[in-house]
Amino acid sequence: MKRILLLLAAMLLAVTAADARKAPKKKAYVHETVAIPEVQPRVIAIETDNTALILQVDRKGVVRTRHYGAKLGRSEDFLNFNDKAFKDIDPGSLAYPSSGGRYTGSSALSVLYPDGTRNTEIYYLSHEVAGNKTTIHLKDYVTELKVDLVYESFPKEDVIVIHSEIVNGGKKPVSLTDYASSSMTLNARKYFLTHFHGTWAEEMQVDREVLGHGIKVLESRRGVQTSQCGNPSFLLSLDTAEWSETKGEVVAGALEWSGNWKISFERPESGYLRINAGINPYASVWSLAAGERFVTPGMVWTWSDEGAGKASRNLHRWARNSQLYAGAQITPTLLNNWEGTYFSFNTKMLLDIIDDAASMGLEMFVLDDGWFAKDYPRNDDKAGLGDWELNTDKLPEGIDYIASHAHNKGLKFGIWIEPEMVNPESNLAKAHPEWIVQSPGREMEQIRNQWILDLSNPEVQDFVYGVFDRTMSLSDKIDYIKWDCNRSVTSFGSTYLGTEQDRFFIGYIQGLYKVLDRVRAKYPDTIIQCCSSGGARVDYGQLKYFNEVWASDNSDGDSRVLIQYGTSLVYPACIMGSHVSIVPNHQTGNITPLKFRFDLASTGRLGMELQPKDLTAQERVLADRCIKSYKQYRDLVFKGDLYRLASPYEGDDYALMYVSEDKSRAVVFAFCLKFRNRDKAAPVYKLQGLDTSRSYKVTELNVDKSCWWGSGKSFGGDFLSSGGFNPKLSKPHDSAVFLLETE
Ligand code: DGJ
Repeated sequence: MKRILLLLAAMLLAVTAADARKAPKKKAYVHETVAIPEVQPRVIAIETDNTALILQVDRKGVVRTRHYGAKLGRSEDFLNFNDKAFKDIDPGSLAYPSSGGRYTGSSALSVLYPDGTRNTEIYYLSHEVAGNKTTIHLKDYVTELKVDLVYESFPKEDVIVIHSEIVNGGKKPVSLTDYASSSMTLNARKYFLTHFHGTWAEEMQVDREVLGHGIKVLESRRGVQTSQCGNPSFLLSLDTAEWSETKGEVVAGALEWSGNWKISFERPESGYLRINAGINPYASVWSLAAGERFVTPGMVWTWSDEGAGKASRNLHRWARNSQLYAGAQITPTLLNNWEGTYFSFNTKMLLDIIDDAASMGLEMFVLDDGWFAKDYPRNDDKAGLGDWELNTDKLPEGIDYIASHAHNKGLKFGIWIEPEMVNPESNLAKAHPEWIVQSPGREMEQIRNQWILDLSNPEVQDFVYGVFDRTMSLSDKIDYIKWDCNRSVTSFGSTYLGTEQDRFFIGYIQGLYKVLDRVRAKYPDTIIQCCSSGGARVDYGQLKYFNEVWASDNSDGDSRVLIQYGTSLVYPACIMGSHVSIVPNHQTGNITPLKFRFDLASTGRLGMELQPKDLTAQERVLADRCIKSYKQYRDLVFKGDLYRLASPYEGDDYALMYVSEDKSRAVVFAFCLKFRNRDKAAPVYKLQGLDTSRSYKVTELNVDKSCWWGSGKSFGGDFLSSGGFNPKLSKPHDSAVFLLETE
């Protein structure tokens, strides 16, 4: 018995010892942290002739935006600046705020790591300055995620363009869920935001509001139509609740991107205003492979202490000098046949229109939609897109024949394409259904009876480039292409991208830019207009490639006042295609005088869009006269500085002027929008931008009898700037154009 008990005890001990061997040793859990290396505190100043963006780097390597405004004598005074905010929460002045650490506001950068964590805190490593470009290198202190912030300054124009580059230095892919181009911190007591909303035929409508606490988001999720419902740009007046053209601090911004965009304005507890701007991360988590660099588009910033007028002029000058494709070029006046004929034309009709355009003094004829597709002829908007061969039934003599006729008459020749699109009724849709934007099992919705091709696919990129190239080969006399894009993206998806569907929205625009790079490499001199159901693609990304935009399908005078005023806040007049069309207006049914329509269209790149035969003999005389006078002053519209004198949102009139850089010439436009009672004195326009020490001869154009008592005489610039200029415009649609020349 004793032996049995001993045996059992021995067995028990053996089992317990074996269990003890198997059980992991319980080690006390220790949270280990990675040390943040200290750096030398410093100030980094990005300067232009009159402005400075000042960044402060503290001992920990945190980079904060401390000032965006007037250039300072000593930026280093910001070295020890202390915002004195409660330190347990970051007050949000980080130069590029990332999700993680003490930062809880809206993020410029958010990263999901392979281990499921989401904290990123980037610190200063180094920076370098090369010419006007400053690059600040930052790195997360735990992972191998790196960020370069690139600041490019344009000294004369007082513009700074900022973008970020995000690099995965780790060994596994990471997911970027926010990746703004730029983040800005401003500090004022009030923030008065001006931004844009709109729809087809009502683009660039102005919205203004004082920003309260919380987040205001402006964005587009329409894929390819950047600007129909808004515009990736804004103006922000500081310390005021009012708009002023001439007074106060204004910060303006515009994004160089042609796809989904997002600009957020957040007022956290600190009182600061944080603006994050960039590509919209909507449905676009970017998987960043090991070693990959993600380069965001530029965000353009300017600051003015002379109100919104100067902010606009800074942007316009920067655009003309550095951003627009051939920004210094004066593009020709033109006649486009769209509203004159729509799809119903033949060679004879086009030749007649060309003859009429030539006799009116116009300089180019543009053949719009409807010239192509054989099996599914493009005789309305239901068929043909995708089949880019000439419809020989309609135009048997060919494009070269028509283009040669235009050239023989001294006109340039342009032609319309919409290469990103396909009608279900086309050979292309049948041959390549896989090229169409689509999502498995889901309806492929049509908009304007068409689908959109998937430009994230390199085969489609080749095709779209080929459409441009083949169209150009129809004649060696094609001087101008109108590139249209008449729908936005819905039920998005790509057969090419497989499981990487989140690359679609960004991949599409990258694909579009690749095509445009190829187009520009081969066709550097072709004038190309960016059109998208009117003005649905007006942004500084497109404008690197395109000479101009079609601002709106609505060329009704009354509507155009608002559309063109809004456009002028951010974009220069030289890009704005503005046409005179027939009345009643095809979109609004409105009737405005021909002179009003001409004077207004002359504030941009003048064109006509009608059947000239619909004009009376008297109207033809006026048209000739307006076109002739436009050529006298259009260099001012294309290259001069814009001063807005009266806003259509504020009063009964709209007035603006362009002044040459040397201030020797100017042109003033004024438009009456509402009846002005006879008992009221004539409106006074205090002209701007003139040399007050010089004299200007003032001549009203396009009329026999002037509406200003001083027309034809000479006046001091100081008189004209101080209230002496008061043309009598009292009836709705009265309008006037004055040329000012120093003697
Ligand atoms: C939309 C454009 O905005 C118009 O000017 C015209 O080109 C049509 N498309 C043609 O379909």
